[in-house]
Amino acid sequence: MRSKTITTSFGPCVVQIGEGALACLGKVVAGASSIVIVTDDVVAPLHGSKVLDALDNVNLTMHEWTVPAGEASKSLWQAESFYDFLASKGCDRSTMIVALGGGVVGDLAGFVAGTWMRGVRFVNCPTTLLAMVDASIGGKTGLNHAGRKNAVGVFHHPEAVLVDVTTLTTLDDRAFNAGMAESIKHGVIADEAFLSWQMDHAQEIKGRDPRVLEELVARNIEIKAAHVEQDERDQSGVRAKLNFGHTIGHAIEVVCDYALPHGECIGLGMLAAGRVAIGRGLVDETVRDRLSAALSSFSLPCRFTFQGDISAMMSALRGDKKSVGGVVRFVLPTKIGEVTVGHDVGDAEIESAIAELME
Ligand SMILES: NC(=O)c1ccc[n+]([C@@H]2O[C@H](COP(=O)([O-])OP(=O)(O)OC[C@H]3O[C@@H](n4cnc5c(N)ncnc54)[C@H](O)[C@@H]3O)[C@@H](O)[C@H]2O)c1
Ligand SMILES: [Zn+2]
Repeated sequence: MRSKTITTSFGPCVVQIGEGALACLGKVVAGASSIVIVTDDVVAPLHGSKVLDALDNVNLTMHEWTVPAGEASKSLWQAESFYDFLASKGCDRSTMIVALGGGVVGDLAGFVAGTWMRGVRFVNCPTTLLAMVDASIGGKTGLNHAGRKNAVGVFHHPEAVLVDVTTLTTLDDRAFNAGMAESIKHGVIADEAFLSWQMDHAQEIKGRDPRVLEELVARNIEIKAAHVEQDERDQSGVRAKLNFGHTIGHAIEVVCDYALPHGECIGLGMLAAGRVAIGRGLVDETVRDRLSAALSSFSLPCRFTFQGDISAMMSALRGDKKSVGGVVRFVLPTKIGEVTVGHDVGDAEIESAIAELME
């Protein structure tokens, strides 16, 4: 088991990574008056009992709130139903919310934890690779609204993140590989050696070797935490580097109506950003080649099918949070292991980068 403490303005966030990390939950909940475990209807039957076992000797009132699995649960409607549930159970400021699930559950539970009674204690127990390497760290929560991804949200850090890598054994390959897209992203933006390590250990990673997964998750969390600690509120540009691939990636998610997993869209978005960077002379083809080789090692798509008009994607891009006054801002690579932020990219460059991705 590995342990790391992330410094946040909310206080320390303790991260435990490894087999059996969920067993720490009993200690973490100390001081709460009641606990609400938030999960989805896929994760509940698979891993709900691990959380209940960890809380076996804890003498607290416990409630469970289960949402339908899938992106549609990141809605204000779902948050409102959750508030109704909390109210019906008499939950107050000393209630603690525990998320057990992927990024959808973490974002919804974190949002409600950050807004119920102006904020209650929160613990995140991620069960997808994407949530382990990315979504559970950094305090961003988000709900989608009127076709805008993460349009409504608050910063609310968990006080602990418990990453039991053995929960990944039940995750299907497509969802697992989608998480690898964010892991590849971390290599591309900050650590070339880590990108190579992922390629070298692709077989063990895909075989879900728990020791290799522990190392993989730990390095991802270090990279993400370093960006968050330097720029918690996403103001100086350091944290914005983590958005590499997310400008076009989010637009693909929206126009495909969330039919493709987030990670697959981010992989495609990274390839498109790579093309823009090549067009501007920031990098040469080898950078995009390495990126597509890394994505392909984890069966992530380098192309996608889209029947609609490219103008739908352009308007989704302008609606993205990262656009300012309708000007779309990009994070672009300057080499493997380094990106720069704030590039204003014109429509023609974007359209040709997207066109290259289409089947
Ligand atoms: N807050 C952040 O900083 C942040 C960062 C990145 C992504 N996100 C958000 O995260 C979401 C994507 O997260 P995700 O990819 O984890 O999706 P998800 O939460 O929808 O999980 C994917 C699927 O896997 C199932 N699942 C979860 N754990 C499982 C397990 N151990 N075994 C079997 N099935 C399991 C879920 O029920 C779901 O059907 C997006 O909404 C994205 O915007 C947030
Ligand atoms: Zn992402």
